[in-house]
Amino acid sequence: MPRTTIIFSTILFMLLSVVITAQSSSSDSGKPKATKLMVEACKNASINYPYGDPFSQEFCLSTLQSDNQSAEAKDLRALVLVAIDILKSHVTAAGGKIKKMLQDAKKGTVMMPVLSFCEVDYDHVVRRLNVCQGLIRDYQGDKSGRQPLRLTHCVEMSFTPLNKCSIGLEDMPGVEVLSKENVELQFMVQVNTGLLASYDVHD
Ligand SMILES: *[C@@H]1O[C@H](CO)[C@@H](O)[C@H](O)[C@H]1NC(C)=O
Ligand SMILES: *[C@@H]1O[C@H](CO)[C@@H](O)[C@H](O)[C@H]1NC(C)=O
Repeated sequence: MPRTTIIFSTILFMLLSVVITAQSSSSDSGKPKATKLMVEACKNASINYPYGDPFSQEFCLSTLQSDNQSAEAKDLRALVLVAIDILKSHVTAAGGKIKKMLQDAKKGTVMMPVLSFCEVDYDHVVRRLNVCQGLIRDYQGDKSGRQPLRLTHCVEMSFTPLNKCSIGLEDMPGVEVLSKENVELQFMVQVNTGLLASYDVHD
């Protein structure tokens, strides 16, 4: 074998190793791969999102990819239920941070009522989402032509309390993390609403 070929092969081999290492380290991060269903559902969700400017498909995908269950979902209905699980766990975690900050907040400060209301709102959002999941699990599809179950609306109702909390947190020093998290939660509600809108349309 000519020397240049050997050198070239060596370089090629090294490059391949780098690529393979990079690939395996990215799967080590624990992020599930984006399945065809996830990609298609996010595309449809952003098209079917009924309220103004939709979220980005990338945000939708990365939200779904934050939970391993997404990759196991066999259909849109299963994926919708996973997406609500993801939203619930984020609202619960954010609510936990608010509870903790509430314990540290001084009594009689401006901070107290704002955090207290947010705490209640977050709790309500989680409870409401549990109801929505129950409705979706029981929903057989309305073939009778009667009123739709308004599944989309059920999840979308979480938007207003989160948004109200966001207004309270705005301009308050020291709660930037809570504010940022709240904005992300609002985006996740939009993703869920879009996914459910597709489910309602195609059922
Ligand atoms: C998701 O699955 C991957 C690979 O199976 C695993 O390494 C990772 O810990 C899981 N992540 C979660 C949050 O369960
Ligand atoms: C996405 O929308 C297309 C066109 O309406 C539909 O055929 C397809 O089944 C939808 N896919 C999902 C995953 O909802």
